[in-house]
Amino acid sequence: MAVSLSTTAPVAGSQVLAYGAARGDLVVPNDDLVGPIDSSDEWIRQRTGIVTRTRASAEVGVKDLSLAAAREAIETSGIDLETLDAIIVSTITFPYATPSLATLLAGELGRPDVIAYDISAACAGFAYGIGQADALIRSGSARNVLVIGAEKLSDFVSPTDRSISFLLGDGAGAAVVGPSDTPRIGPTVWGSAGDNWNTIRMTGSSLDFRDGKIGWPTLEQDGRTVFRWAVWHTAQKVREMLERSGLTVEDVDVFVPHQANMRIIDELAKQLKLPEDVVIGRDIADTGNTSAASIPLATHRLLAEGAARSGDVLVQFGFGAGLAYAGQVLILP
Ligand SMILES: CC(C)(COP(=O)(O)OP(=O)(O)OC[C@H]1O[C@@H](n2cnc3c(N)ncnc32)[C@H](O)[C@@H]1OP(=O)(O)O)[C@@H](O)C(=O)NCCC(=O)NCCS
Repeated sequence: MAVSLSTTAPVAGSQVLAYGAARGDLVVPNDDLVGPIDSSDEWIRQRTGIVTRTRASAEVGVKDLSLAAAREAIETSGIDLETLDAIIVSTITFPYATPSLATLLAGELGRPDVIAYDISAACAGFAYGIGQADALIRSGSARNVLVIGAEKLSDFVSPTDRSISFLLGDGAGAAVVGPSDTPRIGPTVWGSAGDNWNTIRMTGSSLDFRDGKIGWPTLEQDGRTVFRWAVWHTAQKVREMLERSGLTVEDVDVFVPHQANMRIIDELAKQLKLPEDVVIGRDIADTGNTSAASIPLATHRLLAEGAARSGDVLVQFGFGAGLAYAGQVLILP
């Protein structure tokens, strides 16, 4: 006889309840980096829009940045910590392949019993995490979920690598996601372009680490390929997100793409024909590219500065190593 199993009762929707943010404590201007890469302040400003980036002191780790962002998000959300069921961390810079940063944070936050795991989706990681949190909540598998994007990229930068060293900053952004009577997070549009898997990589990623030849890894990329991929594919994915959420570009209040390069951000706004009054995240100018942290950091800042408001319709989209990409429309808390 076929056996039918009981399962969890689904929930109508999910919503972001609150954000938290932590940036590196050091402000690093372009001039501090240009010597070893034979570059200039002018080149970096023109090609990327970056003026300064935040980096963390030697004694501040990716765990510390994560904890600060997480604590702010939890406190602002007002949830009872006992109702936090899951912690999802996106990071490529926790210096242990295992155990996960999420389990470490679970202990530090006083909830060592929750679902906790890291995901490796690089600059798409925060939006991957929001997609997973939404699915966990709507399936009834978790009540509140903490999603963190956290990177101490400066630990994995070679000062002489002119493909990427000038882009990267350190920081963490967090969001508490909880249930909602109506959906306030739209369908996640996500995927990968695995034919480009090695476009952004840690050195040695194409070697087998068992041969013992790989030292401390640093990041490198084929920036032009990433640039082209982003401006070629993102607008279509964003239109798909809007359509699947039942919205049009006229409904968008705030646009926060991954903070990879100001020229990519401007090009996307143009391609999408965003109305003039749409607020655009441009945190990259003085935070740099913080990979998984970049979207929540930019969003947190717009809310803190009053440029974005509770109830605004936000479109977020991340892309990066893999090439993994993900995004969704959500209503700001
Ligand atoms: C990295 C990036 C800023 C490089 O800018 P670009 O306009 O594509 O630059 P190019 O590689 O085409 O090089 C253009 C010229 O600048 C030079 N150049 C490259 N890097 C340089 C640097 N760091 N400083 C000064 N000059 C540089 C090149 O040698 C080339 O010179 P040439 O015209 O005399 O041959 C840009 O490709 C980018 O931001 N890509 C996306 C990165 C991204 O999103 N990464 C994902 C997250 S990590």
